[in-house]
Amino acid sequence: MRILAIESSCDETAAALVQDGRTVLSSLVNSQVAEHAQYGGVVPEIASRRHIENIGGLVRGALEQAEMTLSEVDAVAVTCCPGLIGALLVGVNFAKGLAYAANKPLIGVHHIRGHIAANYIAYPELKPPFFALVVSGGHTVITRVKDYAKFEIIGTTRDDAAGEAFDKAARVLGFPYPGGVYIDKAAQRGNPHAYALPMPVIDGHPYDFSFSGLKTAVINLAHKAEQKGETLDANDLAASFQHTAVTMLCNRFFAAAQQYGEKKLVLAGGVAANSELRKELEKRAEAGGYELFIPPLALCVDNAAMIGSQAYYEFLAGNLADNTLNGSAYLSIDYVNEGKSSKVNF
Ligand code: KG4
Ligand code: ZN
Repeated sequence: MRILAIESSCDETAAALVQDGRTVLSSLVNSQVAEHAQYGGVVPEIASRRHIENIGGLVRGALEQAEMTLSEVDAVAVTCCPGLIGALLVGVNFAKGLAYAANKPLIGVHHIRGHIAANYIAYPELKPPFFALVVSGGHTVITRVKDYAKFEIIGTTRDDAAGEAFDKAARVLGFPYPGGVYIDKAAQRGNPHAYALPMPVIDGHPYDFSFSGLKTAVINLAHKAEQKGETLDANDLAASFQHTAVTMLCNRFFAAAQQYGEKKLVLAGGVAANSELRKELEKRAEAGGYELFIPPLALCVDNAAMIGSQAYYEFLAGNLADNTLNGSAYLSIDYVNEGKSSKVNF
């Protein structure tokens, strides 16, 4: 089954053709990062406008790259939640129009489910059940993937997402947006134990995260140093921040896996590109006898191939959408996909 997938939930417009959830026939991504960088973050209105301008060309390009015509496509899939609502609606409406005009089934895909599915593309042998740690710019969640379209949340963030914390810490250190990758690079030259930073534990919720205290601690250190006329060592602060964030993520993930007796672990999301997180997970997985799946860097960032992969399994689970499909800014990963997601207000 060949699925044409569209992604427009944030600042990347993407289109891809994916066969049977595992083989990528084509994948195109147009990133708006450079334009948003001048504002220090994503400007939703600009993102929506760029999606509108780019989406037609990307879909056409994905079909051309796969040497296919629309009539050879078996279904149209689109990210319908969660994300920036204006941005999501561009993809959702485009996909609805396309599916209707070409008389093809329509599949709505949850973006974070898609991030996890990136691993199905990279690892053909990977099958649920497993535990996944999803760390992206907007989400931080430990989820039990019971089946391809069945999820249970084990832990989540109480405030900022991991990527958001990386980006805000990077901003304080003077790095451009999105700063996660600059923190990663600077940290390689710094001492991770130079600054003591907080690692909060949430009473009664051992697998939940809180990143806002860590972010604020970095901001306070920078402000105090500025007031005293001192210069902070950016490499040391980046290394200390990253080490604290990575330790918090790994501690919770492995504690949850041990508690539930799950030996198969999967990493996903933009922050999965972080070199220390990858290394630390590998180290702990080896020491504890876990099977670990980490997506290649190209599949960590937002793309439509991962949406096409998850769409195949939503289709097999009977989760088809219709032309009432709506976008939703805040649907949690464990929602029951009735295809529409229109019952949720935003
Ligand atoms: O998954 P993604 O593309 O966006 C969402 O769906 O939210 O993730 C983007 C996030 C940004 O916060 C970015 O700074 C972070 O991933 N990121 C990194 C690295 N590369 C990207 N964070 C830490 N280290 C990296 N190497
Ligand atoms: Zn994403």
